[in-house]
Amino acid sequence: MEKELVLVIDFGGQYNQLVARRVRECNVYCEIYSYKTDLDKIKAMNPKGIILTGGPSSCYEEGAATCSKELFELGVPVLGLCYGAQLMMHVLGGRVARADVREYGKTEVKVDKSSALFSDVSEDTICWMSHFDYIAEMAPGFRAVAHTDNCPVAAAECVEKQLYAIQFHPEVLHTVEGSKMLYNFVRGICGCVGDWRMDSFVEESIKTIRERVGKGRVLCALSGGVDSSVAAVLLSKAVGEQLTCVFVDQGLLRKNEGDEVEAVFGPNGSYDLNFIRVNAQERFYGKLAGVTEPERKRKIIGEEFIRVFEEEAKKIGTVDFLVQGTIYPDVVESGLGGESAVIKSHHNVGGLPDYVDFKEIIEPLRNLFKDEVRKVGLELGIPEKLVFRQPFPGPGLGIRIIGEVTAEKVKIVQDADAIYREEIANAGLDRSINQYFAALTNMRSVGVMGDERTYDYAIALRAVNTIDFMTAESAQIPWEVLQKVTSRIINEVGHVNRVLYDVTSKPPGTIEFE
Ligand code: XMP
Repeated sequence: MEKELVLVIDFGGQYNQLVARRVRECNVYCEIYSYKTDLDKIKAMNPKGIILTGGPSSCYEEGAATCSKELFELGVPVLGLCYGAQLMMHVLGGRVARADVREYGKTEVKVDKSSALFSDVSEDTICWMSHFDYIAEMAPGFRAVAHTDNCPVAAAECVEKQLYAIQFHPEVLHTVEGSKMLYNFVRGICGCVGDWRMDSFVEESIKTIRERVGKGRVLCALSGGVDSSVAAVLLSKAVGEQLTCVFVDQGLLRKNEGDEVEAVFGPNGSYDLNFIRVNAQERFYGKLAGVTEPERKRKIIGEEFIRVFEEEAKKIGTVDFLVQGTIYPDVVESGLGGESAVIKSHHNVGGLPDYVDFKEIIEPLRNLFKDEVRKVGLELGIPEKLVFRQPFPGPGLGIRIIGEVTAEKVKIVQDADAIYREEIANAGLDRSINQYFAALTNMRSVGVMGDERTYDYAIALRAVNTIDFMTAESAQIPWEVLQKVTSRIINEVGHVNRVLYDVTSKPPGTIEFE
Protein backbone atom coordinates (compact mmCIF):
# COMPACT_ATOMS: atom_id res chain seq x y z
CA MET A 1 0.00 0.00 0.00
CA GLU A 2 1.34 3.42 -0.88
CA LYS A 3 2.05 5.72 2.06
CA GLU A 4 -0.31 8.65 2.52
CA LEU A 5 1.58 11.90 2.04
CA VAL A 6 0.59 15.51 2.55
CA LEU A 7 2.93 18.11 1.08
CA VAL A 8 3.52 21.43 2.77
CA ILE A 9 4.75 24.01 0.29
CA ASP A 10 6.97 26.53 2.02
CA PHE A 11 6.55 30.21 1.15
CA GLY A 12 8.82 31.44 3.92
CA GLY A 13 6.42 31.76 6.87
CA GLN A 14 7.63 31.31 10.43
CA TYR A 15 5.13 28.58 11.29
CA ASN A 16 5.81 26.10 8.50
CA GLN A 17 7.12 23.31 10.68
CA LEU A 18 4.18 23.85 12.95
CA VAL A 19 1.91 23.10 10.00
CA ALA A 20 3.85 19.90 9.36
CA ARG A 21 3.66 19.00 13.00
CA ARG A 22 -0.13 19.44 13.09
CA VAL A 23 -0.42 17.16 10.06
CA ARG A 24 1.70 14.55 11.85
CA GLU A 25 -0.64 14.91 14.82
CA CYS A 26 -3.40 13.74 12.48
CA ASN A 27 -1.27 10.61 11.97
CA VAL A 28 -0.49 11.53 8.40
CA TYR A 29 3.05 11.66 7.02
CA CYS A 30 4.11 15.04 5.81
CA GLU A 31 7.05 16.64 4.02
CA ILE A 32 7.96 20.27 3.45
CA TYR A 33 9.19 21.50 0.07
CA SER A 34 10.16 24.92 -1.16
CA TYR A 35 7.73 26.77 -3.42
CA LYS A 36 10.45 26.50 -6.06
CA THR A 37 9.95 22.73 -6.31
CA ASP A 38 9.17 21.49 -9.79
CA LEU A 39 5.53 20.65 -10.46
CA ASP A 40 6.51 17.30 -12.01
CA LYS A 41 8.32 16.36 -8.83
CA ILE A 42 5.24 17.25 -6.80
CA LYS A 43 3.05 15.17 -9.11
CA ALA A 44 5.42 12.22 -8.89
CA MET A 45 5.12 12.17 -5.10
CA ASN A 46 1.40 11.59 -5.51
CA PRO A 47 0.30 13.60 -2.46
CA LYS A 48 -3.16 13.19 -0.96
CA GLY A 49 -3.23 16.87 -0.12
CA ILE A 50 -1.18 20.05 -0.45
CA ILE A 51 -0.92 22.89 2.05
CA LEU A 52 0.49 26.28 1.07
CA THR A 53 2.05 28.09 4.02
CA GLY A 54 2.20 31.71 5.03
CA GLY A 55 5.03 33.95 3.92
CA PRO A 56 6.41 37.45 4.34
CA SER A 57 5.79 38.89 0.85
CA SER A 58 2.83 40.46 -0.93
CA CYS A 59 1.73 38.05 -3.64
CA TYR A 60 1.01 40.79 -6.21
CA GLU A 61 4.51 42.29 -5.99
CA GLU A 62 7.12 41.54 -8.60
CA GLY A 63 9.48 38.74 -7.59
CA ALA A 64 7.18 37.48 -4.80
CA ALA A 65 7.19 33.76 -4.05
CA THR A 66 4.60 32.16 -6.27
CA CYS A 67 3.29 28.93 -7.75
CA SER A 68 1.80 27.86 -11.05
CA LYS A 69 -1.90 27.67 -11.84
CA GLU A 70 -1.44 23.97 -12.63
CA LEU A 71 -0.75 23.25 -8.96
CA PHE A 72 -4.46 23.83 -8.40
CA GLU A 73 -5.44 21.57 -11.28
CA LEU A 74 -3.85 18.34 -10.13
CA GLY A 75 -7.13 17.03 -8.73
CA VAL A 76 -5.46 17.06 -5.29
CA PRO A 77 -7.10 19.09 -2.48
CA VAL A 78 -5.15 22.27 -1.75
CA LEU A 79 -5.36 24.38 1.41
CA GLY A 80 -3.79 27.84 1.40
CA LEU A 81 -2.93 29.44 4.73
CA CYS A 82 -2.51 33.22 5.06
CA TYR A 83 -0.08 34.10 2.24
CA GLY A 84 -0.94 30.73 0.71
CA ALA A 85 -4.63 31.68 0.75
CA GLN A 86 -3.96 35.04 -0.89
CA LEU A 87 -1.69 33.47 -3.48
CA MET A 88 -4.36 30.92 -4.38
CA MET A 89 -6.84 33.73 -5.04
CA HIS A 90 -4.28 35.84 -6.89
CA VAL A 91 -3.16 33.03 -9.19
CA LEU A 92 -6.72 31.91 -9.92
CA GLY A 93 -8.02 35.37 -10.86
CA GLY A 94 -9.09 36.96 -7.58
CA ARG A 95 -7.72 40.20 -6.17
CA VAL A 96 -5.50 40.72 -3.18
CA ALA A 97 -4.88 44.23 -1.86
CA ARG A 98 -3.33 46.08 1.02
CA ALA A 99 -5.80 46.60 3.89
CA ASP A 100 -6.21 49.95 5.66
CA VAL A 101 -5.39 48.37 9.00
CA ARG A 102 -3.25 45.41 9.78
CA GLU A 103 -5.21 42.60 11.43
CA TYR A 104 -2.96 41.07 14.07
CA GLY A 105 -3.51 38.88 17.11
CA LYS A 106 -6.36 36.84 18.51
CA THR A 107 -9.47 37.67 16.54
CA GLU A 108 -13.03 36.45 16.72
CA VAL A 109 -13.98 34.75 13.47
CA LYS A 110 -17.48 33.77 12.36
CA VAL A 111 -17.41 30.54 10.40
CA ASP A 112 -19.95 28.90 8.12
CA LYS A 113 -20.41 25.50 9.66
CA SER A 114 -21.69 24.03 6.41
CA SER A 115 -18.10 24.06 5.12
CA ALA A 116 -16.27 20.76 5.55
CA LEU A 117 -13.31 22.77 6.89
CA PHE A 118 -15.34 23.84 9.91
CA SER A 119 -17.14 20.67 10.77
CA ASP A 120 -17.41 20.48 14.58
CA VAL A 121 -15.94 23.97 14.93
CA SER A 122 -17.88 26.60 16.94
CA GLU A 123 -19.62 29.26 14.90
CA ASP A 124 -17.71 32.01 16.75
CA THR A 125 -14.15 30.96 17.25
CA ILE A 126 -10.91 32.67 18.25
CA CYS A 127 -8.23 32.59 15.55
CA TRP A 128 -4.72 34.01 15.15
CA MET A 129 -4.54 36.66 12.46
CA SER A 130 -1.40 38.25 11.11
CA HIS A 131 -1.81 40.01 7.79
CA PHE A 132 -1.49 43.35 6.00
CA ASP A 133 -2.95 42.19 2.70
CA TYR A 134 -6.44 40.83 2.37
CA ILE A 135 -8.54 39.00 -0.18
CA ALA A 136 -10.47 41.86 -1.77
CA GLU A 137 -12.14 39.65 -4.38
CA MET A 138 -12.30 35.90 -4.42
CA ALA A 139 -11.32 33.99 -7.54
CA PRO A 140 -14.24 32.75 -9.67
CA GLY A 141 -16.04 29.71 -8.25
CA PHE A 142 -15.15 30.43 -4.61
CA ARG A 143 -17.52 31.32 -1.76
CA ALA A 144 -16.60 32.92 1.56
CA VAL A 145 -17.01 30.58 4.51
CA ALA A 146 -15.65 32.76 7.34
CA HIS A 147 -15.30 36.46 8.11
CA THR A 148 -14.26 38.86 10.85
CA ASP A 149 -15.25 42.47 11.54
CA ASN A 150 -12.33 43.68 9.40
CA CYS A 151 -11.89 40.84 6.97
CA PRO A 152 -14.73 39.88 4.64
CA VAL A 153 -12.99 36.69 3.47
CA ALA A 154 -11.34 34.99 6.46
CA ALA A 155 -11.85 31.65 4.66
CA ALA A 156 -13.09 30.58 1.25
CA GLU A 157 -13.73 27.36 -0.62
CA CYS A 158 -14.36 25.99 -4.06
CA VAL A 159 -15.67 22.54 -3.21
CA GLU A 160 -15.88 21.41 -6.82
CA LYS A 161 -12.12 21.87 -7.31
CA GLN A 162 -11.28 20.91 -3.72
CA LEU A 163 -9.60 24.24 -3.07
CA TYR A 164 -9.65 25.88 0.36
CA ALA A 165 -8.19 29.12 1.66
CA ILE A 166 -7.82 30.31 5.25
CA GLN A 167 -6.59 33.83 5.99
CA PHE A 168 -5.66 33.11 9.63
CA HIS A 169 -3.19 30.57 11.06
CA PRO A 170 -4.89 27.34 12.20
CA GLU A 171 -1.48 25.82 12.99
CA VAL A 172 -0.72 28.07 16.00
CA LEU A 173 -2.22 27.30 19.39
CA HIS A 174 -3.81 30.75 19.65
CA THR A 175 -6.29 29.52 17.05
CA VAL A 176 -8.32 27.63 19.58
CA GLU A 177 -9.90 25.16 17.15
CA GLY A 178 -7.13 25.25 14.56
CA SER A 179 -6.08 21.63 14.98
CA LYS A 180 -9.64 20.58 14.29
CA MET A 181 -9.68 22.62 11.07
CA LEU A 182 -6.46 21.01 9.86
CA TYR A 183 -7.80 17.61 10.87
CA ASN A 184 -10.93 18.35 8.84
CA PHE A 185 -8.76 19.12 5.82
CA VAL A 186 -6.30 16.26 6.11
CA ARG A 187 -8.55 13.48 7.32
CA GLY A 188 -11.89 14.74 5.97
CA ILE A 189 -11.34 16.59 2.71
CA CYS A 190 -8.16 14.77 1.61
CA GLY A 191 -9.57 11.49 2.91
CA CYS A 192 -6.37 10.36 4.63
CA VAL A 193 -6.87 7.28 6.80
CA GLY A 194 -4.22 8.36 9.30
CA ASP A 195 -2.14 5.23 9.76
CA TRP A 196 1.20 6.98 10.24
CA ARG A 197 2.79 6.83 13.70
CA MET A 198 6.09 7.86 15.30
CA ASP A 199 7.22 4.26 14.90
CA SER A 200 6.92 4.83 11.16
CA PHE A 201 9.24 7.80 11.59
CA VAL A 202 11.73 5.55 13.33
CA GLU A 203 11.49 2.85 10.66
CA GLU A 204 11.80 5.31 7.79
CA SER A 205 14.70 7.15 9.39
CA ILE A 206 16.60 3.92 9.95
CA LYS A 207 16.05 2.93 6.34
CA THR A 208 17.19 6.27 4.90
CA ILE A 209 20.19 6.49 7.24
CA ARG A 210 21.27 2.98 6.18
CA GLU A 211 21.01 3.85 2.52
CA ARG A 212 22.89 7.10 2.97
CA VAL A 213 25.68 5.81 5.21
CA GLY A 214 26.34 2.53 3.41
CA LYS A 215 29.59 1.18 4.84
CA GLY A 216 30.74 4.63 6.01
CA ARG A 217 31.92 5.54 9.49
CA VAL A 218 29.86 7.79 11.70
CA LEU A 219 30.86 9.98 14.64
CA CYS A 220 28.53 11.44 17.26
CA ALA A 221 29.18 13.77 20.19
CA LEU A 222 27.00 12.37 22.93
CA SER A 223 26.15 14.70 25.80
CA GLY A 224 23.65 12.49 27.56
CA GLY A 225 20.93 15.07 26.89
CA VAL A 226 17.68 14.08 25.20
CA ASP A 227 18.46 15.17 21.65
CA SER A 228 21.93 13.70 21.27
CA SER A 229 20.85 10.48 23.01
CA VAL A 230 17.89 9.96 20.70
CA ALA A 231 20.03 10.75 17.64
CA ALA A 232 22.71 8.32 18.82
CA VAL A 233 20.26 5.48 19.41
CA LEU A 234 18.63 6.02 16.05
CA LEU A 235 22.05 5.82 14.39
CA SER A 236 23.03 2.81 16.41
CA LYS A 237 19.89 0.97 15.27
CA ALA A 238 20.66 1.95 11.69
CA VAL A 239 24.39 1.29 11.40
CA GLY A 240 25.47 -0.39 14.67
CA GLU A 241 29.21 -0.47 15.14
CA GLN A 242 29.93 1.84 12.27
CA LEU A 243 28.93 4.47 14.85
CA THR A 244 31.32 5.86 17.44
CA CYS A 245 29.96 8.05 20.22
CA VAL A 246 32.31 10.32 22.10
CA PHE A 247 31.11 11.36 25.54
CA VAL A 248 33.18 14.03 27.26
CA ASP A 249 32.88 14.19 31.03
CA GLN A 250 34.10 17.72 31.69
CA GLY A 251 33.52 17.48 35.43
CA LEU A 252 30.54 19.81 35.21
CA LEU A 253 27.79 17.22 34.97
CA ARG A 254 25.15 16.48 37.57
CA LYS A 255 25.90 13.97 40.31
CA ASN A 256 26.59 10.48 38.89
CA GLU A 257 25.57 11.62 35.41
CA GLY A 258 28.75 10.41 33.73
CA ASP A 259 28.25 6.90 35.07
CA GLU A 260 24.57 6.96 34.18
CA VAL A 261 25.31 7.85 30.59
CA GLU A 262 27.97 5.16 30.44
CA ALA A 263 25.57 2.60 31.91
CA VAL A 264 23.14 3.24 29.05
CA PHE A 265 25.52 3.68 26.13
CA GLY A 266 28.75 2.04 27.28
CA PRO A 267 29.97 -1.54 26.71
CA ASN A 268 27.55 -2.93 29.32
CA GLY A 269 24.64 -0.92 27.94
CA SER A 270 21.99 -2.06 25.54
CA TYR A 271 23.16 -0.45 22.30
CA ASP A 272 25.36 -1.59 19.51
CA LEU A 273 27.97 1.17 19.10
CA ASN A 274 31.50 2.15 20.00
CA PHE A 275 31.40 4.26 23.13
CA ILE A 276 34.33 6.42 24.12
CA ARG A 277 34.20 8.18 27.47
CA VAL A 278 36.77 10.87 28.00
CA ASN A 279 37.35 11.83 31.60
CA ALA A 280 38.57 15.36 31.17
CA GLN A 281 37.58 16.80 34.54
CA GLU A 282 41.04 17.97 35.60
CA ARG A 283 41.69 19.51 32.23
CA PHE A 284 38.56 21.64 32.46
CA TYR A 285 39.13 22.63 36.10
CA GLY A 286 42.67 23.65 35.16
CA LYS A 287 41.44 25.92 32.36
CA LEU A 288 38.75 27.40 34.60
CA ALA A 289 41.03 28.16 37.54
CA GLY A 290 40.80 31.80 38.55
CA VAL A 291 38.13 32.62 35.95
CA THR A 292 35.01 34.32 37.31
CA GLU A 293 33.35 36.08 34.39
CA PRO A 294 30.35 34.04 33.11
CA GLU A 295 30.84 34.53 29.37
CA ARG A 296 34.53 33.80 29.68
CA LYS A 297 33.71 30.56 31.49
CA ARG A 298 31.23 29.59 28.77
CA LYS A 299 33.83 30.26 26.11
CA ILE A 300 36.54 28.26 27.85
CA ILE A 301 34.23 25.29 28.39
CA GLY A 302 33.00 25.39 24.79
CA GLU A 303 36.50 25.65 23.33
CA GLU A 304 37.95 22.97 25.56
CA PHE A 305 35.12 20.65 24.60
CA ILE A 306 35.98 21.10 20.94
CA ARG A 307 39.68 20.46 21.64
CA VAL A 308 38.90 17.21 23.46
CA PHE A 309 36.45 16.09 20.81
CA GLU A 310 38.90 16.92 18.06
CA GLU A 311 41.66 14.88 19.72
CA GLU A 312 39.37 11.87 19.99
CA ALA A 313 38.22 12.27 16.41
CA LYS A 314 41.85 12.28 15.27
CA LYS A 315 42.44 8.96 17.04
CA ILE A 316 39.52 7.44 15.17
CA GLY A 317 40.82 8.70 11.84
CA THR A 318 38.70 9.93 8.97
CA VAL A 319 34.99 9.61 9.47
CA ASP A 320 32.43 9.94 6.73
CA PHE A 321 29.53 11.37 8.70
CA LEU A 322 29.08 13.52 11.77
CA VAL A 323 25.79 13.20 13.65
CA GLN A 324 24.22 16.22 15.26
CA GLY A 325 21.17 16.18 17.52
CA THR A 326 19.84 19.40 16.02
CA ILE A 327 16.10 19.72 16.48
CA TYR A 328 13.69 22.02 14.70
CA PRO A 329 13.65 24.96 17.15
CA ASP A 330 17.47 25.15 16.75
CA VAL A 331 17.06 25.24 13.00
CA VAL A 332 14.43 27.94 12.89
CA GLU A 333 16.28 30.21 15.30
CA SER A 334 19.31 29.99 13.06
CA GLY A 335 17.31 30.88 9.99
CA LEU A 336 18.15 27.61 8.29
CA GLY A 337 14.55 26.48 8.09
CA GLY A 338 14.03 26.59 4.34
CA GLU A 339 12.51 29.82 3.13
CA SER A 340 12.10 31.63 6.47
CA ALA A 341 14.02 34.60 7.82
CA VAL A 342 16.96 34.53 10.27
CA ILE A 343 16.07 35.23 13.91
CA LYS A 344 19.32 34.44 15.73
CA SER A 345 22.13 31.95 15.44
CA HIS A 346 22.19 28.90 17.69
CA HIS A 347 25.03 27.03 19.31
CA ASN A 348 23.83 23.60 18.15
CA VAL A 349 23.76 24.44 14.48
CA GLY A 350 26.98 24.59 12.54
CA GLY A 351 29.10 24.43 15.72
CA LEU A 352 31.43 21.45 15.54
CA PRO A 353 31.86 20.75 11.84
CA ASP A 354 34.75 23.18 11.26
CA TYR A 355 36.95 21.26 13.64
CA VAL A 356 36.40 17.68 12.58
CA ASP A 357 37.39 15.94 9.40
CA PHE A 358 34.23 14.48 7.93
CA LYS A 359 32.29 14.50 4.69
CA GLU A 360 28.66 15.04 5.58
CA ILE A 361 26.40 15.88 8.51
CA ILE A 362 23.47 13.73 9.55
CA GLU A 363 20.73 15.45 11.50
CA PRO A 364 17.97 12.88 11.90
CA LEU A 365 15.83 15.01 14.25
CA ARG A 366 16.03 18.20 12.27
CA ASN A 367 12.31 18.33 11.55
CA LEU A 368 11.01 17.45 14.99
CA PHE A 369 9.92 19.44 18.01
CA LYS A 370 11.15 18.54 21.48
CA ASP A 371 8.07 16.57 22.50
CA GLU A 372 8.22 14.65 19.23
CA VAL A 373 11.88 13.84 19.90
CA ARG A 374 10.78 12.46 23.26
CA LYS A 375 8.15 10.31 21.53
CA VAL A 376 10.82 8.96 19.19
CA GLY A 377 13.02 8.27 22.21
CA LEU A 378 10.27 6.22 23.87
CA GLU A 379 9.61 4.45 20.60
CA LEU A 380 13.30 3.51 20.48
CA GLY A 381 13.09 2.07 24.00
CA ILE A 382 15.36 4.67 25.62
CA PRO A 383 14.82 4.73 29.42
CA GLU A 384 12.14 7.24 30.49
CA LYS A 385 14.53 8.83 32.92
CA LEU A 386 16.66 9.90 29.99
CA VAL A 387 13.83 10.75 27.63
CA PHE A 388 12.15 13.12 30.10
CA ARG A 389 15.32 14.75 31.24
CA GLN A 390 14.99 18.48 31.82
CA PRO A 391 17.16 20.81 29.78
CA PHE A 392 20.75 21.07 30.95
CA PRO A 393 23.04 23.77 29.58
CA GLY A 394 26.12 22.84 27.56
CA PRO A 395 28.48 24.57 30.05
CA GLY A 396 26.79 22.50 32.77
CA LEU A 397 27.46 23.30 36.40
CA GLY A 398 30.10 25.77 35.23
CA ILE A 399 27.35 28.41 35.03
CA ARG A 400 25.61 27.20 38.20
CA ILE A 401 28.62 28.01 40.33
CA ILE A 402 28.82 31.74 40.63
CA GLY A 403 32.40 32.92 40.40
CA GLU A 404 35.38 30.60 40.17
CA VAL A 405 34.78 26.90 39.49
CA THR A 406 36.70 24.44 41.67
CA ALA A 407 36.38 20.70 42.19
CA GLU A 408 35.21 21.35 45.76
CA LYS A 409 32.44 23.68 44.64
CA VAL A 410 31.34 21.25 41.93
CA LYS A 411 30.91 18.58 44.58
CA ILE A 412 28.82 20.93 46.78
CA VAL A 413 26.46 21.92 44.00
CA GLN A 414 26.20 18.33 42.73
CA ASP A 415 25.21 17.04 46.16
CA ALA A 416 22.72 19.82 46.83
CA ASP A 417 21.19 19.47 43.37
CA ALA A 418 20.81 15.70 43.74
CA ILE A 419 18.88 16.17 47.00
CA TYR A 420 16.69 18.84 45.43
CA ARG A 421 15.89 16.64 42.42
CA GLU A 422 15.19 13.66 44.61
CA GLU A 423 12.73 15.58 46.78
CA ILE A 424 11.00 17.19 43.79
CA ALA A 425 10.49 13.68 42.38
CA ASN A 426 9.29 12.38 45.78
CA ALA A 427 6.71 15.17 45.82
CA GLY A 428 5.58 14.10 42.31
CA LEU A 429 6.53 17.47 40.81
CA ASP A 430 9.31 16.32 38.47
CA ARG A 431 7.18 16.20 35.31
CA SER A 432 5.25 19.39 36.01
CA ILE A 433 8.10 21.83 36.61
CA ASN A 434 9.93 22.61 33.39
CA GLN A 435 13.38 23.25 34.84
CA TYR A 436 14.72 23.14 38.38
CA PHE A 437 18.19 22.98 39.85
CA ALA A 438 20.46 24.10 42.67
CA ALA A 439 23.15 26.70 42.16
CA LEU A 440 26.03 27.64 44.38
CA THR A 441 26.03 31.34 45.15
CA ASN A 442 29.41 32.84 45.78
CA MET A 443 28.08 34.21 49.04
CA ARG A 444 29.26 33.02 52.42
CA SER A 445 27.42 34.04 55.54
CA VAL A 446 27.32 33.44 59.24
CA GLY A 447 25.18 30.72 60.75
CA VAL A 448 24.98 28.60 63.83
CA MET A 449 25.06 24.82 63.90
CA GLY A 450 24.95 22.99 67.23
CA ASP A 451 26.54 25.60 69.44
CA GLU A 452 29.07 26.67 66.89
CA ARG A 453 29.36 29.61 64.63
CA THR A 454 29.60 28.68 60.93
CA TYR A 455 30.74 30.74 57.99
CA ASP A 456 29.68 28.85 54.88
CA TYR A 457 28.12 29.02 51.41
CA ALA A 458 24.51 29.67 50.46
CA ILE A 459 22.80 27.38 47.96
CA ALA A 460 20.12 28.91 45.76
CA LEU A 461 17.24 26.77 44.54
CA ARG A 462 15.62 27.63 41.26
CA ALA A 463 12.46 26.19 39.67
CA VAL A 464 10.64 27.66 36.70
CA ASN A 465 7.65 27.00 34.54
CA THR A 466 7.93 28.02 30.93
CA ILE A 467 6.78 27.01 27.49
CA ASP A 468 9.60 28.34 25.36
CA PHE A 469 12.37 29.15 27.88
CA MET A 470 12.34 32.72 26.55
CA THR A 471 10.09 33.84 29.39
CA ALA A 472 9.50 31.95 32.62
CA GLU A 473 7.68 32.14 35.93
CA SER A 474 9.14 30.99 39.21
CA ALA A 475 7.32 27.79 40.23
CA GLN A 476 5.29 27.78 43.46
CA ILE A 477 6.77 24.80 45.23
CA PRO A 478 4.89 23.74 48.40
CA TRP A 479 6.52 25.11 51.53
CA GLU A 480 6.90 21.63 53.08
CA VAL A 481 8.91 20.47 50.08
CA LEU A 482 11.22 23.48 50.27
CA GLN A 483 11.67 22.96 54.00
CA LYS A 484 12.54 19.32 53.54
CA VAL A 485 15.04 20.10 50.79
CA THR A 486 16.57 22.86 52.90
CA SER A 487 17.03 20.74 55.98
CA ARG A 488 18.49 17.85 53.98
CA ILE A 489 20.95 20.11 52.15
CA ILE A 490 22.14 21.75 55.37
CA ASN A 491 22.49 18.39 57.11
CA GLU A 492 23.95 16.37 54.29
CA VAL A 493 26.08 18.77 52.27
CA GLY A 494 29.26 20.11 53.80
CA HIS A 495 30.12 23.84 53.67
CA VAL A 496 26.51 24.98 53.22
CA ASN A 497 24.66 26.77 56.02
CA ARG A 498 21.91 28.61 54.15
CA VAL A 499 19.41 27.79 51.39
CA LEU A 500 17.62 30.49 49.38
CA TYR A 501 14.71 30.13 46.96
CA ASP A 502 14.73 32.34 43.88
CA VAL A 503 11.29 33.80 43.09
CA THR A 504 12.43 35.99 40.20
CA SER A 505 10.66 35.53 36.88
CA LYS A 506 12.31 35.86 33.45
CA PRO A 507 12.49 38.68 32.53
CA PRO A 508 13.96 40.44 34.47
CA GLY A 509 15.98 37.41 35.69
CA THR A 510 17.24 34.61 33.50
CA ILE A 511 16.70 30.95 34.27
CA GLU A 512 20.35 30.22 34.95
CA PHE A 513 22.27 32.45 37.36
CA GLU A 514 25.04 33.23 34.90
P1 XMP B 1 18.54 31.54 30.47
O1 XMP B 1 19.47 31.42 31.62
O2 XMP B 1 19.13 32.29 29.31
O3 XMP B 1 18.29 30.05 29.97
O4 XMP B 1 17.20 32.09 30.87
C1 XMP B 1 17.34 29.68 29.01
C2 XMP B 1 17.54 28.20 28.73
O5 XMP B 1 18.79 27.99 28.07
C3 XMP B 1 19.64 27.19 28.85
N1 XMP B 1 20.98 27.79 28.78
C4 XMP B 1 21.98 27.30 28.03
N2 XMP B 1 22.05 26.21 27.23
N3 XMP B 1 24.31 26.74 26.73
C5 XMP B 1 23.23 25.92 26.62
O6 XMP B 1 23.32 24.91 25.92
C6 XMP B 1 24.32 27.85 27.51
O7 XMP B 1 25.32 28.55 27.61
C7 XMP B 1 23.09 28.14 28.19
N4 XMP B 1 22.70 29.14 29.03
C8 XMP B 1 21.42 28.91 29.37
C9 XMP B 1 19.07 27.21 30.26
O8 XMP B 1 19.39 26.02 30.98
C10 XMP B 1 17.59 27.35 29.98
O9 XMP B 1 17.00 26.09 29.68
